[in-house]
Amino acid sequence: MASDQMPRRHKLSIIPSVRPMVAEDVLHVSAIEQQVTPHPWRESQFLESVSKHYCLVLTLETKVIGYTIYTIVAGEAEILNIAIHPDYQGKGYGRQLLDHLMAIVYEQAERLYLEVRASNASAIHLYQEVGFVEICLRRNYYPTPSGPEDAIVMAIDFQFGL
Ligand SMILES: CC(C)(COP(=O)(O)OP(=O)(O)OC[C@H]1O[C@@H](n2cnc3c(N)ncnc32)[C@H](O)[C@@H]1OP(=O)(O)O)[C@@H](O)C(=O)NCCC(=O)NCCS
Repeated sequence: MASDQMPRRHKLSIIPSVRPMVAEDVLHVSAIEQQVTPHPWRESQFLESVSKHYCLVLTLETKVIGYTIYTIVAGEAEILNIAIHPDYQGKGYGRQLLDHLMAIVYEQAERLYLEVRASNASAIHLYQEVGFVEICLRRNYYPTPSGPEDAIVMAIDFQFGL
């Protein structure tokens, strides 16, 4: 989204940019991951993803503040991971990264899927805001210390455009 189209409270003094993730980013990405989820990916999973999947980082000047990993197979895309550094959450950066990813995927896939913990209200709001809809519930999918948690599978169909 161009900065002049963003909601007023999301106008940012430094405009972020998005570029492909490289192996040298993995330490920073992994450090963010440790802070944003109780079940973080290992560094080796990010390194493997850099060579196997599509991986993007969102940067402010040169600082990596967010990332996403996704796949595209036979016209179907899936977001495997997306996160913004805790200090930068709630400022519109997650939306920007998602918009960027969707613009890329739109050219190459008919549908984009993701899976989200049922308790992750902020992520679910973000996904709904950009047009994702719930397509199924996987009961007791994620193990947690306080018992299993449901996963919501969401999708956005690109056949009618972005
Ligand atoms: C989910 C995540 C990527 C969103 O990124 P973000 O930069 O914080 O989100 P944005 O500031 O771009 O917010 C975009 C929309 O998300 C929703 N949102 C963001 N934070 C929210 C919160 N705390 N409560 C409710 N909705 C929220 C809102 O719909 C918001 O739009 P609005 O501000 O116009 O109302 C980020 O919070 C994060 O990294 N969370 C931890 C990792 C994670 O849960 N990843 C998703 C796994 S499926």
